Amino acid sequence: MDKILVTGGLGFIGSHTVVELQNKGYNVIIIDDLSNSSINVLDGITAITGKKLEFEKLDLKNKQTVEAFFLKHQDIKGVIHFAASKAVGESVEKPLLYYENNINTLVYVLQEVQKLKNSNFIFSSSCTVYGQAEKMPISEDAPVKQAESPYGNTKKIGEDIITDACKVNPKMKAISLRYFNPIGAHKTAKIGELPIGVPQNLVPFITQTGVGMREQLSVFGDDYQTKDGTCIRDYIHVVDLAKAHVVALQRLLQNKNKSNNEVFNIGTGKGSSVLEVIQSFERVSNKKLNYKITSRREGDVVSAYADTHKANNELGWKAESSLDDAMLSAWKWQQQL
Ligand code: UD1
Repeated sequence: MDKILVTGGLGFIGSHTVVELQNKGYNVIIIDDLSNSSINVLDGITAITGKKLEFEKLDLKNKQTVEAFFLKHQDIKGVIHFAASKAVGESVEKPLLYYENNINTLVYVLQEVQKLKNSNFIFSSSCTVYGQAEKMPISEDAPVKQAESPYGNTKKIGEDIITDACKVNPKMKAISLRYFNPIGAHKTAKIGELPIGVPQNLVPFITQTGVGMREQLSVFGDDYQTKDGTCIRDYIHVVDLAKAHVVALQRLLQNKNKSNNEVFNIGTGKGSSVLEVIQSFERVSNKKLNYKITSRREGDVVSAYADTHKANNELGWKAESSLDDAMLSAWKWQQQL
């Protein structure tokens, strides 16, 4: 079976994608530097799939190491590249670290991917590239805006780098997936999100408040022009998102791509407000959540949800889980943690 490299394969989205790849019979090799993940995730993955996989602890910032790795593994048929730093606030404080972690590494990996016999590449992009879009839902042809943070900029620049590399090398085949807001965990509660320190994202903050690790959730603003005044996002179950990677990869492996550089939105198409997410948590957990309304968070867009037609029609993929399904899985994961 085809050998697939997953960089950052022990991270939140990476680990769920590895499970879905193994479920489809792919032979997976993970590289991860463990900078924001735990080696125990490997056990979680194998407990779910019962299949063995290869793992190498490797720092993609080291060009020689990357070269040596690919030399050893020239039979790789596709690369799914998750490895990157993702904390928006930290990226504002340490921009150069973010450019090194997210851009240098991308370049080194692409340089090796283009030498392979099969140069199939899937990139973790983000709806953050749209900024505050004019029109909802957001389709792939919505303009890409100037990034609000160095983190966001690494996603925008990352896509540009891939575009330029694909232009001069027809053998390269790339798909960038622009994720909306991934939440939830595997239904077995053996893998999930592992935020380090105080979570910046909504759902882990909610579940940590639910188990008593945090006293209270702050809802960042209720005076937006939305249905209940709080911001709207498109929350997608991480397992649905993981499956999108597998179908995107299959599209490349089967030469079904329409150009050698494609972009897809990966979301549910449904916008939910912060208060609706809280209500969902309260429904599935049977708990009241302690929260208060505070001021707006700088840099937040009012609303972002996906037009999913392109992904539905071209990839033949559709998010299957509801917000409640995703919330319940996040809650189970939090409880077992
Ligand atoms: C954030 C990043 C985005 C990144 C994504 C990765 C910002 C501005 N954006 O997206 O670039 O791609 O994470 O997962 O940081 N909220 C609260 N209280 C909280 C936390 C969040 O009310 O304690 C609200 C936010 O205002 C927002 C919603 O919950 O309306 C979702 O927030 P979050 O989970 O941080 O995701 P994004 O801001 O959409």
